[in-house]
Formats: sequence, C-alpha cells, structure tokens
Amino acid sequence: MKLLAGKPGWTAQADVIVIGSGVAGLTTALNIRSSGLSVLLVTKAKIDEGSTKWAQGGIAAALGPGDTPDQHKKDTLIAGAGLCDTAAVDVLVTEGPEAVRKLIARGAVFDKSETGEIALTREGGHLRNRILHAGGDATGAEVSRALLAAVQDDSGIQVIENALAIDVLQSSAGSVCGVTLHVIGAGSQDGVGRALARAVVIATGGLGQVYSQTTNPSVSTGDGVALALRAGAEVADVEFIQFHPTVLWRDTNVGGQQPLISEAVRGEGALLVNDKGERFMVGKHPQAELAPRDVVAKEIFTQMKESNSPHVWLDATELKEFATRFPTIYASCIENGIDPLTQMIPVAPASHYASGGVKVDLNGRTTIPGLYACGETACTGAHGANRLASNSLLEGLVFGARIAADITTNIPAQVQPQEESSTFLLSPAIQLPLQLAMSQGAGVMRSESSLNETLRTLEQLSTRTTKEQNIAAWEVSNLYLLAVAIVRSAKERKESRGSHWRSDFPDQLPAWQKRIIQRLDSSGHWHTTFDEVK
Ligand code: FAD
Ligand code: SIN
Repeated sequence: MKLLAGKPGWTAQADVIVIGSGVAGLTTALNIRSSGLSVLLVTKAKIDEGSTKWAQGGIAAALGPGDTPDQHKKDTLIAGAGLCDTAAVDVLVTEGPEAVRKLIARGAVFDKSETGEIALTREGGHLRNRILHAGGDATGAEVSRALLAAVQDDSGIQVIENALAIDVLQSSAGSVCGVTLHVIGAGSQDGVGRALARAVVIATGGLGQVYSQTTNPSVSTGDGVALALRAGAEVADVEFIQFHPTVLWRDTNVGGQQPLISEAVRGEGALLVNDKGERFMVGKHPQAELAPRDVVAKEIFTQMKESNSPHVWLDATELKEFATRFPTIYASCIENGIDPLTQMIPVAPASHYASGGVKVDLNGRTTIPGLYACGETACTGAHGANRLASNSLLEGLVFGARIAADITTNIPAQVQPQEESSTFLLSPAIQLPLQLAMSQGAGVMRSESSLNETLRTLEQLSTRTTKEQNIAAWEVSNLYLLAVAIVRSAKERKESRGSHWRSDFPDQLPAWQKRIIQRLDSSGHWHTTFDEVK
C-alpha cells in the first residue's frame, strides 16, 4: 500500500539514505560516514527544522559525581511503568555517557557550573541532577548546530532539503531499496523522483501534529511511522502519547505548535498551583512537582476539570535568575504578555512525544529487511509507557551510533525495486477536524466511548480523498493513518498505564504487562499482536 504520487522524473543513488535531519538522522549519517559509505540525507524542510532544535531541558546521562547508569536505569524503568524493554534501557543508559562525550568532541558546548564542571539539572522522574543543558534552555539548538556543522564538513554526505520522503521502494521480496521523494525548488531534482540505496534509515521525528495543540513543530507529522506501516513494518506502543504537563496556555484558539515551559523550570524550584493558589502535587507523589510527566499531566488535567479552568499556574516568581537561566522561555513568556519574574505562568498539558513508533531491535532494525528507524520515529522499547525526561536526545545519539555500526557491518547489495500501484491520498481539508477529534477523544484521558466517537469521525474523514498531489495531502494522509493506529491501540489497552489514561479502566493491570504491536498488510487490513514484557 502506497500513497498516490506521480511518476518519478529523476533518480539518485547512495549506499545509505537517511530520512530526517534531527539528532537521530544527523548522528546516524555522521557515524555511517566513518566507514566510508556514501550517505544521501533528505529532509522535508530546511535542514534545521524538526523537534531537535526546540529541545529545552537537556540530555540525561549518568555523568555527575556519584551517578551511575544503574541509577539512570532505575528512574527510566519507573517512568516507563512496567513496559520498558530492559535490554534497550541498558543500552541507553550504559552507552549514553560515551555518546554524549562524542557529541562534545564533535563541538557541542554545554553549560558549566562556577567550578568549570558541566552543570547538571533535574527534571521530572529523575532522582538526581543528571541533565546537561546548553544556552540555559536551548539545548536542542546547540545539539543541532554542532551536528549540522559536522555534516556540512563531510563531503560524503549529500543533503537534499525540501525533500519529502513519500514511501519506501521495495523489491519483490519486500526488502527496502530506496524511497520516492518529492523535492520542491529549482534544480535538477525537482518534483517526484526516486533515490535508490542499499539501506534506508527513517529518522523523521515525532507525530505531535496528530493533535490540535502540541509542542512539536509543523514538520512533526509522523511521516516515517506511516510510511513504515505502508511498507508492512510493525509499530509498537503507539497508544503512549506523552502530554507535556507545562505548555504555555494562551487565551486563544490557536492550534499547532505551542510554547513549552521546560520541566527544568520545576527542576530549579518553580511550583504548580491551582486556581485557589494551592500546591496540588504535594501528597500526590513523593516527588511532587517533579513526579514523572504522566503523573503531573494527569493531576493538572484533574485540577482543570475540578475548577473548570483551561489551565493551572506555574509559579516561578522565586526564581530570581529566570531570565538568564531560561532565556528562551523568558522571551516567549514576555512575547505572550507574562513576566515570569512577577506573574504566575498559565500552563496546560499538550501533546509532546510519541513513546511508541516503528518497532526496532537493539540495532535499529525494523521488521522489514533494509529498513532501519531511529529517534522519536522508532520504538526501541526504552521508554515503555512513558518516556523519562531528556532521554530522547540521548536515544538519538546512542541508537544512531548503533544503527551506523550495524549498517557498516551488514549492508546488503543493492536490489531493484518493483513497481507498486499507489492510490491512497486524502484531502488537506481534513487536517483540522482530524486533530480536533484526536484531542477530544484520544487525548490525555480516553474512554471506550470517546475513542469510538473519534474512530467514527476518522472513518467519515477517510472518504474525503483527493487526486491533487501536494505536501499537505501527503502529510494529512500520514496523520490519518497514525490517528487510526493510535485509536486502535488505545481502544485495545483496557487499563491505565503511563501516559495512557482510560477513565473507564482507571487501574494498571498485571494482565496488560504486554506491548501492543500493529501492522498493515498489502490490502490495507490491520493486524494486532502482543509481546509479553518480562
Ligand atoms: P526531529 O528532530 O523531529 O527531526 C525529524 C526530521 O525529519 C526533521 O528534519 C524533519 O524535517 C524530517 N522529516 C519529517 N518527515 C519527513 C519526510 N517525510 N521526509 C523527509 N524528512 C522528513 N527531548 C530531550 O531529550 N530533551 C529535551 O529537553 C527535550 N525538549 C523538547 C522540547 C520541545 C519543545 C520538543 C518539541 C521536544 C523536546 N524533546 C526533548 C524531544 C526531542 O526534542 C525529540 O524527541 C527529538 O529531538 C527527536 O529527534 P529526531 O531526530 O528523532 O526528530
Ligand atoms: C522539557 O524541557 O521539559 C522537555 C524535556 C523532554 O521532553 O525530555
């Protein structure tokens, strides 16, 4: 099953294609180059677009005095609410410190303490200060800057910007051997084309745009997960959408990307209070405001419902260094008419991170030969039912390096793609109703009836097809597929766990100590299986 796309007008070739230029794609590309293989890196907008450059709080790694990978592991497992793959967590926390050191060697500069050591802060779910940060609250921008500089210095990495990967090309045996792309702009590669390669890595980031309000940028339409599904790959844990508890609430109906107020602000002492001015996290969890993200998001949601208010408050007025410690957040508060030094910040949860995605093994291999997935697109199992704060940039660094090592050792010969007819394309007009239906029925809190209602809306929207091929139509067709996958898994999981909260099944149940795996067959039928988690 593939999306409707024109006949390819041009062909490119490389040993490996990497789709996406965030931390995952850039790290993978750079590491592959150390073996001398050629890399074609395609990215659908400008090269620095994507969630990476927006990351605020930092990168978690056991680098501080007295900290150990084992303690990082414990915090990750607790946040993951019983569904983490412990082997993937072991890899993440033990290879994390070295991956961060390599990033520093590539030129990334992290904030230092007065004594010249790397400054470490704390975020929700961490029992120690272990978050490295840069530019106060501009960690992602620094990671992106450093990796992009390294990529631009490497003549063996060909970059095509404004190149949207539509679908993968597959041999008659199903192996992935390239992609169809749409490139905008003057030049020899314009319009629909195809690029052939011996391996393809999807690193297309998150899918926050499935919801009407998200911290994710507009490129986060989950294209990689959708194209992997259409290629027949398995996806896992997609019901676990993380809602960030403290997103700046603006008195508008503006949808799309919303300004984030980093968890590190709470890490430095800011407090959550309700409309009555009471701290409500105390007594709800031993870590109070710094409980794992799902716990805080749920409590905020409950407070909002009880007080019939669209937000709660974050009180950071005691943080005298706010403007210098959090310059990006300070500027965005001021831009929105709030001075955090003197006023409380209105905050509400918004969709932030997909803990699930394309199911991969410890080397980033999907269930389709030749196809790898890395970063937020992938589901390594390291996050379980709820990702621990600042483990995502780390995952891109660690698994990007592992994928590169696997490709370098095991890269197959080039195979030829088979022709596949493509028919499916939805109208961009369905984007807003789709996002609203997902926020309404499959958001922070779900139930059988809300999910059924959302599914009904999605079914109606699926009849609004189009023959007009453009970026908005390809993206919305991807959003539709992901929305269906999320709702199907959320309906299936009849319990509450991590970031999946069912009002009709409020308890976490031992019988659900398993992951939900979905795949689409070539006729577009869904198949669901389960993986026990030990
Ligand atoms: P991205 O950085 O999103 O990159 C995806 C790339 O794929 C982009 O280049 C995009 O243009 C491209 N792309 C997408 N679709 C296509 C297509 N069809 N064809 C071609 N290219 C495509 N995590 C942390 O660990 N610490 C933090 O402090 C932190 N703060 C965050 C703050 C915000 C506001 C947000 C939104 C996220 C934050 N996260 C944080 C999460 C983290 O930033 C992301 O999970 C991580 O950056 C994802 O990296 P990635 O490389 O997988 O994807
Ligand atoms: C934040 O800074 O609160 C976001 C951190 C993350 O998503 O890991």
